[in-house]
Amino acid sequence: MTKVITYGTYDLFHEGHYRLLQRAKQLGDYLIVGITTEEYDRTRGKLNVIDSLMTRIENVKKTGFADEIIIEEAAGQKFRDIQKYKIDIFTVGSDWTGQFDYLKDYCQVIYLERTKNISSTMLRTQNKRIQRIGVIGTGRIAERFIPEAKLVSGVSTQGVYNPHHESAARFAKKWEINAYRNSEEFYAAVDAVYVASPHETHYGYVKSALEHGKHVFCEKPMVLKMAQAEELFSYAKAQNLILMEGIKTAYCPGFANLLGIACSGIVGNIRNIETCFTKLEDLESRELTNIKYGGSFTELGSYVMLPILKLFGKDYEQLQFHSINDKNGIDLFTKASFQYPNGIATATCGLGVKSEGRLLIAGTKGYIVSEAPWWKTTYFEVHYEDPGKVEKFSDRFLGEGLRYEISDFLSMINGSNKNDFKLTRGESVTMAGIMETFLKEHRNL
Ligand code: CTP
Repeated sequence: MTKVITYGTYDLFHEGHYRLLQRAKQLGDYLIVGITTEEYDRTRGKLNVIDSLMTRIENVKKTGFADEIIIEEAAGQKFRDIQKYKIDIFTVGSDWTGQFDYLKDYCQVIYLERTKNISSTMLRTQNKRIQRIGVIGTGRIAERFIPEAKLVSGVSTQGVYNPHHESAARFAKKWEINAYRNSEEFYAAVDAVYVASPHETHYGYVKSALEHGKHVFCEKPMVLKMAQAEELFSYAKAQNLILMEGIKTAYCPGFANLLGIACSGIVGNIRNIETCFTKLEDLESRELTNIKYGGSFTELGSYVMLPILKLFGKDYEQLQFHSINDKNGIDLFTKASFQYPNGIATATCGLGVKSEGRLLIAGTKGYIVSEAPWWKTTYFEVHYEDPGKVEKFSDRFLGEGLRYEISDFLSMINGSNKNDFKLTRGESVTMAGIMETFLKEHRNL
């Protein structure tokens, strides 16, 4: 019996997939089809897969060509499967020509001609109109957005708006996009907006973008007042628009995995959470010279609060801040201490004091630890009373991570995922409230 194996995502099942499976089956007597999990696709940079794994399995099953379906979860699995299933022929489409030649020592490798003019990527963009995104702001974060957005199918960066025309023109030239000085022209040219301007301008831009009927993805901290966050979210909801706060950690696959493990009860009941993120900044930087809105907590507080709100929730009983300030009253280092009914937490951040960046989640049976940069989670460990028993988890975090946020933003716009569970409106509102309290106590704002 000749055993054949092939792999794919099979998203939005199309004729190219059908013809590939038909010919793969004809190569032998028994066909095994490996179908990728969403997590694996995300780690290899294939974002925006629309059909669920179950739907993709069902679609392959319906063809009647597969004698067996397996799940492909990780790189390196093909090599193991070929030996495990005693495969004679490995086959994939000609778009992969040469890439699996390393398997030739173990089985025959056949690249079948790819069906022309059809692909899942093409269908994904045809089904959904490309979302033209406009960027507001021309700083460092805005710079990171453009190359990351290029990796997400279904979006294009249309242009940039900055009232300072020279900055807009320089940015637009560098990235070969349009520069807009006039906000009306800018809004008319885009479907959605990415706000990456200074913190204190977010509220005004988010509001005007929503009023122009645009979906908004706004850098953290979205706003610095609870009432403003509530107002913007309820306005967006009433207008059926997506409003999303961009805290990259919330959207990265490794962090989602870490939360899942933490919530599984593996470390018992969680009683203490400690988060720390420090990043030394130049004393002349915007972050350390903006007397009203600069400082460590407004800059990094969103990251360090996130795991605490995710795991302990929004209903803390007490919150106290301790800061080390510079001569202008800007916090170089801040510790926020939370008291919850059944636990305590500290969120530490610094732009002028360096410390060990770490996320620690301590429970009644063990603890989870992830070292810096845990906010781009790629690795964490679970420890127990027995020091010899350590479980290790790793994940990939590609590029700047903005691609994960953009991909989720797009899924929400397209309606394939309306759920904001990765960072809920309530969590964003609570964070805005905490920022407000901090600024009131420390800056009298
Ligand atoms: N395939 C094919 N002809 C096409 C599209 C895909 O023969 N027009 C083959 C691929 O070469 C692969 C299998 O079908 O062996 C599954 O491919 P998959 O990556 O799921 O499909 P694509 O349409 O290429 O998906 P995407 O656009 O997301 O890369």
